[in-house]
Amino acid sequence: MELDKYIEKVLVSQKEIETVTKSLGAKITKDYKNKKPLVVGLLKGCIPFMSDLIKHIDTNIELDFMNVSSYYGGIESTADVKIEKDLSVTVKDRYILIAEDIVDSGRTLNAVIKLLEYRGAKEVKVVTLLNKPEGRLIDYVPDYIGVDIPKLFVVGYGLDYKEQLRNLPYVGVLKPEVYTKDFN
Ligand code: PRP
Repeated sequence: MELDKYIEKVLVSQKEIETVTKSLGAKITKDYKNKKPLVVGLLKGCIPFMSDLIKHIDTNIELDFMNVSSYYGGIESTADVKIEKDLSVTVKDRYILIAEDIVDSGRTLNAVIKLLEYRGAKEVKVVTLLNKPEGRLIDYVPDYIGVDIPKLFVVGYGLDYKEQLRNLPYVGVLKPEVYTKDFN
């Protein structure tokens, strides 16, 4: 496609994403039978993955969304979140499954999990398509992981460069010249 010109190499192909998403959906179907979880997508990166994943979950679920941005106080390891868009329903006594495109430092999830637990969720788990273990600043392992990736800047399938390229159907590494060029 036209947008391929920005990509140096494909890291996770469309085919691999399909296989991994199907397998995660099957596991989640089994684990959440009769629990009617609230699947919470963290905007905006979650959109392609969450949309594909839920089609492979064959048990009752509900959907909701949050948009949060992390900011940090004086101490490196303490993160807080600014809620740009909050959930529409209450999480009290519910099983929550957060859907993410990527877990990197772990800061976003650390803060969101704490917040939802504080609000009385019965259980908070996380499904992420991509996991970047070398990026961690907080010791955290997601409950459901699609693919472990190395410490590279990746785009596509929800992940952006300057808010663009989220619509690539695969995950890839940007060409170095894209950083130096104007990309508006
Ligand atoms: C990205 C991604 C995760 C978070 C992971 O979101 O979708 O939410 O960063 O990083 P962390 O593990 O280091 O916290 P971003 O804040 O860029 O927003 P977006 O989803 O709108 O792109």
